[in-house]
Amino acid sequence: MSIEVHNLHQHYGETRAIDGVCMKLPDSAQVLALIGPSGGGKSTFLRLIGGIETPTSGTVIVDNQELPKEEEGLLDYRKSNGFLFQAFNLFPHLSALDNIILPLTEVHGWSRHKAEERAHEVVKRFYLEKHLEKHPGQLSGGQQQRIALARAVAHEPALLLLDEPTSALDPEMKAGVLDLIKELCDAGQRIVLSTHEMGFARQSADHVVFLAEGEILEEGKAEELFEASREPKVTQFLDRVMKW
Ligand SMILES: Nc1ncnc2c1ncn2[C@@H]1O[C@H](COP(=O)(O)OP(=O)(O)OP(=O)(O)O)[C@@H](O)[C@H]1O
Ligand SMILES: [Mg+2]
Repeated sequence: MSIEVHNLHQHYGETRAIDGVCMKLPDSAQVLALIGPSGGGKSTFLRLIGGIETPTSGTVIVDNQELPKEEEGLLDYRKSNGFLFQAFNLFPHLSALDNIILPLTEVHGWSRHKAEERAHEVVKRFYLEKHLEKHPGQLSGGQQQRIALARAVAHEPALLLLDEPTSALDPEMKAGVLDLIKELCDAGQRIVLSTHEMGFARQSADHVVFLAEGEILEEGKAEELFEASREPKVTQFLDRVMKW
């Protein structure tokens, strides 16, 4: 996939969440994992790549198209992507099934019939058939995460952005999501994800970016970065977290 970022900044008041990031992903990369300490800027970087926010300054170029700088111009691009938010962002007043159907009909203009058919396909794939009528407040964290993931992939997005896709899952479900990501990859899906789980990053991604304090400390092929990182701070971080 083709993603380029030039001197990107995202500041929230005094906080420099992204602080001068430059990156050019190799075209061969299909799954990019963002790793690094909490507060390092992973979610912010994902939102900028996905067009959820406009940056303070700098440019993001996806598939050789520079993302528009104003909110309005971003809407079409945003629609073409699928996003799993760290906090899930499900509609609390809608059933699990309607959480998947509504964006298909309202945002993507699908007929109710087509949206229902697709929604039933994806819930089956995520083992959620028993929970269709429940509202988010009646679902466990892991079930909510799977509904949000089902919603993110339902319209077959050009780029799938996953913010900590396994954080609320038990080990078996994590393995299931990993299988699903592999399945999506085999079907050609391009994915950018953030994760605190190094095993997951290593198995799912072909390229890894390590973000800390809004800067890229190191990036490279997943197997190389995990086997032998060049940056001492990254090595130290990996040594510490891989013990768990
Ligand atoms: N909308 C916002 N308004 C103000 N500050 C924000 C906003 N979003 C993020 N930040 C700040 O920007 C910094 C980076 O946050 P971000 O959520 O991108 O980190 P992260 O790497 O995803 O962390 P985590 O691993 O805990 O999810 C943090 O200091 C955070 O408090
Ligand atoms: Mg985050």
